[in-house]
Amino acid sequence: MYSFKEKYSEYLSLFEKRLDEFFARLKCKPQVLDDSLKYTLESGGKRIRAVLTLAVADMLGVKTEDVADLALAIELIHAYSLIHDDLPEMDNDDFRRGRPSNHKVFGVGNALLAGDGLLNTAYAVLFEKCKEDKLYVDAAAFICGCAGVHGMIAGQSADLMCAEKGIKDEEMLDFIVSNKTGKLISAAAASPAVIAGGKYFLELRQFGEDLGKLFQLTDDVLDEEGSLATLGKSAGKDRSENKLTYVTFYGIDQCRVYADIICSKCLGILEGIEGETAFLGDLVNHVRYREG
Ligand code: IPE
Ligand code: IPE
Ligand code: MG
Ligand code: MG
Ligand code: MG
Repeated sequence: MYSFKEKYSEYLSLFEKRLDEFFARLKCKPQVLDDSLKYTLESGGKRIRAVLTLAVADMLGVKTEDVADLALAIELIHAYSLIHDDLPEMDNDDFRRGRPSNHKVFGVGNALLAGDGLLNTAYAVLFEKCKEDKLYVDAAAFICGCAGVHGMIAGQSADLMCAEKGIKDEEMLDFIVSNKTGKLISAAAASPAVIAGGKYFLELRQFGEDLGKLFQLTDDVLDEEGSLATLGKSAGKDRSENKLTYVTFYGIDQCRVYADIICSKCLGILEGIEGETAFLGDLVNHVRYREG
């Protein structure tokens, strides 16, 4: 019988296997570069973006091994974004994934380079796949766009600007979240659709953006209500760093209502897709009710 937890672990181990193979080949010099890249990558994380990519592929009838490197590239990009996000000049976070942040261990200079290295390596992984089939060129271009200056980087830039200037504006909040979180999650959700020749691409891109919103909503609530022990990262930082977040803008109660609305929207999109969507539906609820 289908179990969400078991299926999640199945996708997770598939991904970890690919990551291990990748690590075995990635030998950087000097040692500090190798250590700093691996420090963040090997410290786990939920790998939700990778799981999403593999699950969507399954749902579309694409072999999971055909999208494993897309999942890998997206997780590399995500890991780089976390290292940079924690830097003193960004969110100034001392903990990540249950350990001291990359810059607390290796210093700011090395952390910057570890982030740059992960991003660069992600593109190297994608270029390799592009040699196999033109569909990967389209998928890589899509992922690159989601991570770039009209995607995640734009969101991170607006996030910093709003904190610095004390901007509390609903449109800006939407811009921040759609870009800093929504875009990479939509890359994870819709890139397998590119490999499937465009099947349900628009639906899945929208699904990813909405799931990203839901993900950030719970992240913001957990920042307010969680703890270092459950989150593996410091809580209460958004308020102390003057961040424009769902919680600082709407308050916790409104956030819960909003989360229910986005949750329904995500599930509604899945209803319009023919195929086995049970896992993706459960993933939506998992994101909604997660505690870490
Ligand atoms: C944290 O992402 C950054 C946000 C977009 C909120 P995750 O919560 O997915 O981080 P890991 O990968 O599990 O550590
Ligand atoms: C970060 O959002 C999104 C990224 C692109 C890394 P947050 O700043 O809220 O993420 P956390 O709370 O530090 O994980
Ligand atoms: Mg941030
Ligand atoms: Mg942060
Ligand atoms: Mg946060």
